[in-house]
Amino acid sequence: MDKKIILTGDRPTGKLHLGHYVGSLKNRVELQNSDEYNQFVFIADLQALTDNARNPEKIRNSLKEVAIDYLSVGLDPSKTTIFVQSQIPELTELNMYYLNLVTLARLKRNPTIKTEIKERGFGDAIPVGFLTYPISQAADITAFNADVVPVGEDQLPLIEQCKEIVRTFNGIYGEILKEPEALLSNNDVCKRLPGIDGKAKMSKSLGNCIYLSDDSDTVKQKVMSMYTDPNHIKVEDPGNVKDNAVFTYLDAFATDEHFKKYLADYNNLDELKKHYERGGLGDVKLKKFLFQVLEDVLNPIREKRAYYEEHLDEVYQILHDGSKKARLVAQDTLNKVREAIGINYFD
Ligand code: TRP
Repeated sequence: MDKKIILTGDRPTGKLHLGHYVGSLKNRVELQNSDEYNQFVFIADLQALTDNARNPEKIRNSLKEVAIDYLSVGLDPSKTTIFVQSQIPELTELNMYYLNLVTLARLKRNPTIKTEIKERGFGDAIPVGFLTYPISQAADITAFNADVVPVGEDQLPLIEQCKEIVRTFNGIYGEILKEPEALLSNNDVCKRLPGIDGKAKMSKSLGNCIYLSDDSDTVKQKVMSMYTDPNHIKVEDPGNVKDNAVFTYLDAFATDEHFKKYLADYNNLDELKKHYERGGLGDVKLKKFLFQVLEDVLNPIREKRAYYEEHLDEVYQILHDGSKKARLVAQDTLNKVREAIGINYFD
């Protein structure tokens, strides 16, 4: 049976953090080892430029950081095709054809875009490229005939928009493009890891992230400052484990092995939670444990990062090779699209 094609990307606007790790990176590393899928992962630098056109240095720099993050968490270029959006000109040409299939009114109604326009405070000065990036994203997805697109909930309207474009295109020009399916994480904690301040989302603009590239001291300091239960003042006080960022992180990262290794008074997280709720368990003890757990997760990643930081040529070579490989796939789709539209005049 043919393998299913799975495609995801990230905008290079900063380094990746633990939210990315539990929300998607970890999954991608597992998926690349599955026989069912052929995985493409790419750095969406063109998309990042749609609201950073005046700051290309940031995109250039973040591209390098994201590539190193990918390799450090264990994405393996022999299993996953890792590529750079801007190096595939076919995506831009596909975008051109799709632009004609979507109305301005439809774009302005897209909930993801609406939210992002508000967040960025564009007012009436919305860059055209930004407003139309859902169309460019449809080009990304369809160029690779993606069956499955793992995304966060906030991206669902973009997948919907892509499906619409596929249906419209196929309706006019014939059955050429494949409709993708969104794949949501089924683990609530992993869908949205809160920031260290307890706010709903880890986000660079809120300054509440633990980055995959943070060193040990930085992580310790961040964990020690983490939001817990504001009413848990004295150790004896009963504590709340819900809406308590430390417990949410433990939910996401702590295993029974970690308890054996670092906190043998408890067999598992349930026992720890019960004690916290009863009272008599201090935040410092919890945070020290969480720090040890996170160090276990981050140390192997740091080791690989140190290697790739010393071997940047290798990092760019991997992106270059991946982009060449990806381009062949996109070329094939583009040829079919041109033929379907009937603009392959010289064939
Ligand atoms: N919009 C995605 C993000 O914000 C990046 C992206 C661009 C993407 N093209 C894609 C994701 C295609 C999945 C499929 O990170």
